Amino acid sequence: MRLQNKVIIVTGSCTGIGKAIAERSVAEGARVVIHGLEKELGEAVVAELGADKAALLIEDLTVDGAPQRLVDVALQAFGKLDAIVNNAAMVVASNIHTTDLAFFRKMLEANTIAPFALIQAALPHLRQTHGNVLNIGSVNAWSGEPNLLPYSVSKGALMTLTRNLGDTLMREDGVRVNQINPGWVLTENEAQRKREHGLADDWYKDIPRVYAPAGRILWPAEIAAAAVYWLGDECGPISGQVVDLEQHPFIGRNPPKDATTIPTPAK
Ligand SMILES: NC(=O)c1ccc[n+]([C@@H]2O[C@H](COP(=O)([O-])OP(=O)(O)OC[C@H]3O[C@@H](n4cnc5c(N)ncnc54)[C@H](O)[C@@H]3O)[C@@H](O)[C@H]2O)c1
Repeated sequence: MRLQNKVIIVTGSCTGIGKAIAERSVAEGARVVIHGLEKELGEAVVAELGADKAALLIEDLTVDGAPQRLVDVALQAFGKLDAIVNNAAMVVASNIHTTDLAFFRKMLEANTIAPFALIQAALPHLRQTHGNVLNIGSVNAWSGEPNLLPYSVSKGALMTLTRNLGDTLMREDGVRVNQINPGWVLTENEAQRKREHGLADDWYKDIPRVYAPAGRILWPAEIAAAAVYWLGDECGPISGQVVDLEQHPFIGRNPPKDATTIPTPAK
């Protein structure tokens, strides 16, 4: 019960990593606000967790006033707010040739500006509870795949937001702001997205070891397990940190070359 009596908003928690974080938070003693765009899936998550443990808001977070309404749902349902998890994001592929400006703006609106707006709306309440913010980034924040250009930029900007506010809000308000950058995680939507990008139906069963040293990619529950540390009191005043959650280092990695390019010594 590492999150006993905490009240936590998890954006984008009708599916995937957000849903796993909400489930694990309730298992650790928290009450949660489930949020996202998928009404039926959100209702199913609330039914699974129990109406005394979970409230629901289905609304696009980029709509004016939506961040404040999300905070209000937490206060009305549970009377206080201890943490927000900025997990909702558009995960859509495009590159330098296929990105138009309207799409780029939409991506930044959903993945960077909406999380900022939710922090703004939540701050008066997080100040009262000495609460915290956990932003869900991506290892793409450091540079990213060519065909995830606006997405990667949106997560890079989110990372700067985390580090900037992780300093300011800790000093001025006693509110921690941290970020985890998941690597490649097998969610329902990720399985579908990669099919749409042209991979085979069972693409996740045969991923080269250079990307998945364990022979598989990560499960949402493994990301949720890491989130508990940052959401609870046990990490003390640690703030402004960004932690990559992948099976190999991301910064400075120089993976082994293909044998046709560089001969590999025998073991
Ligand atoms: N799956 C991965 O491999 C992976 C890797 C790194 C980072 N991430 C990050 O993890 C988080 C969750 O991703 P996921 O893989 O679980 O994806 P997902 O598609 O299952 O979840 C995203 C959720 O965000 C919600 N959402 C999107 N735009 C919204 C908006 N404007 N308003 C309200 N809700 C909105 C959707 O309804 C959905 O529930 C995202 O921030 C994503 O960038 C995922």
